[in-house]
Amino acid sequence: MHSSTERFGAAKDKARGAVPRHVAIVMDGNGRWASKRFMPRFVGHKQGVDALVRTVRACADRGIDYLTVFAFSSENWKRPQEEVSGLMGLVLVAVSKYLGKLANEGVRIRIVGDRGAVSDKVREAWDEAERRTVLNRRITLSVAFNYGGRWDMVQACRAAIEAGVPAAELTEERLAEFLALSHAPDPDLFIRTGGEVRISNFLLWQAAYSELHFTDCLWPDFDEVELDAALATFAARDRRFGAIKTEVAPVVTAAAAVQPAA
Ligand code: FPP
Repeated sequence: MHSSTERFGAAKDKARGAVPRHVAIVMDGNGRWASKRFMPRFVGHKQGVDALVRTVRACADRGIDYLTVFAFSSENWKRPQEEVSGLMGLVLVAVSKYLGKLANEGVRIRIVGDRGAVSDKVREAWDEAERRTVLNRRITLSVAFNYGGRWDMVQACRAAIEAGVPAAELTEERLAEFLALSHAPDPDLFIRTGGEVRISNFLLWQAAYSELHFTDCLWPDFDEVELDAALATFAARDRRFGAIKTEVAPVVTAAAAVQPAA
């Protein structure tokens, strides 16, 4: 449990914008973590669940309101059948092991992705996780499962059409209402572990202005030290969202530009 002084410090950082409101993570490197230890890849995924739970708690302690993680991509179906079914089974194990604890700690769980293709058992586990945590607000954990950024845009367009939104009224804001992550603000900080430097079809729309942080740390090793390093790089970034910095680039009017210098 954190002291009230630590919590007050976190609140001040948050007010200054030094702490991201929403962190998104591509949890990469489970397989390599296991291979380095001569263990089956599944062991890496299992350790990955523990790293995820650690990270949810660490983010909540630091005043982060939303954490979104990439747990299973639309492309992960191409992995060997044994690994795919291992990951599906891990959902059931993870929910039965951690749901009660996370629910009691104030975590709201949302699942984003195409639930159509997963088994009834997995779908029911996700439904239960959402149902049991619906009133929680300490932190929202969105688990992207059978998710892809391109899938999300297509399903949002389809949903908008089905809702009868006229083409002329389909603005960015209106379309965003149909995206899978419409319950969260856009991520401020996008982290990828495992050493690869790419986005891999995660949050393509929402990450437009996210600060990116890549680390060689393999996901099962991700801990508070790694999280704090990512948060420190975020705090040092100068976010402009496409605008210019007025203090270094004063506005020069056309009239002032043609005036001879005094
Ligand atoms: C990428 O590592 C990781 C995944 C495809 C799965 C991520 C899943 C977890 C961390 C477990 C969380 C699961 C649930 C049920 C919430 P990789 O396998 O691509 O690793 P590699 O790049 O080293 O091969």
